[in-house]
Amino acid sequence: MRGIILAGGSGARLRPLTNVHSKQLLPVYDKPMVYYPLALLMQAGIREVLVISTPQHLGLYRELLGDGSRLGITLEYAVQEAPEGLAQALLIGRGFIGSGAVCLVLGDNIFYGHRLPDLLRAEAERLDGCTLFGYPVGDPERYGVAEVDGDGAIVGLVEKPSRPSSNLAVTGLYMYGNEAVDRAAELAPSARGELEITDLNLTFVRENRARLVNLGRGCAWFDTGTHDSLLEASLFVQLLEKRQGIRISCLEEVAYRMGYISREQLALAGKELSDSSGYGRYVLALADA
Ligand code: TTP
Repeated sequence: MRGIILAGGSGARLRPLTNVHSKQLLPVYDKPMVYYPLALLMQAGIREVLVISTPQHLGLYRELLGDGSRLGITLEYAVQEAPEGLAQALLIGRGFIGSGAVCLVLGDNIFYGHRLPDLLRAEAERLDGCTLFGYPVGDPERYGVAEVDGDGAIVGLVEKPSRPSSNLAVTGLYMYGNEAVDRAAELAPSARGELEITDLNLTFVRENRARLVNLGRGCAWFDTGTHDSLLEASLFVQLLEKRQGIRISCLEEVAYRMGYISREQLALAGKELSDSSGYGRYVLALADA
């Protein structure tokens, strides 16, 4: 399975923070936002990742993350000319995806939970059609909402329903079999001119081949699209890291623990990061442990 991080969009709700900067490069406490979805894919065992962003910002991602070799992974980059919908990621990534399955994650979604990597690997194994990841929320009318039967099959999927049929919001993490690419190509743009991911997902719902995994209580999910949610995500990361003396979504650590890089490579990565930064010292200390 290959991974795609969609990190474009307009970030209108975060202006003026996003007047000149890419939303998914904004800080979430001690690291750029895009580190979190990338760490998630890496922990799920995905080592080939395509980063998609706007024509103005794609170069910044390349500069920040490089070709991935420092992390023992392969990173590629592609432009989305205009924010024409989440499902367009599969079309932009068509050549990259090739004939396999794909895991798409939105660059502004942050997931945290110790069971999550295992869960994602298990879901990748059993994937047939599409698998979405739901999170119980108190205000489902603000999200895409899924209705599931007792076996986890999605029987209904509605964007921002006025009367939600469940409290399960659909998060920005999606797994698809290869056929999704052809289906995305057949979608008609919505009234707002976008290739809607919900329309793509509904093609699988109609065939009873869309599964929803409820991430439930053991997991935290943040969509960092507003000033408040951005701050809340930062405070969450700060709290966890200070309390436990660990860093979450530290790419160098994930690469090392997943066996993608050696201890020597980890030490080198630590040296490249300044030891004036707590993050740099953390990586160096890991290599010394
Ligand atoms: P949104 O939060 O829906 O859109 P946005 O980031 O442009 O923000 P705003 O609503 O404030 O204008 O998008 C969810 C994520 O998907 C976000 O990371 C941006 C990304 N995205 C794209 O990269 N391309 C797209 O065509 C769209 C619609 C979103």
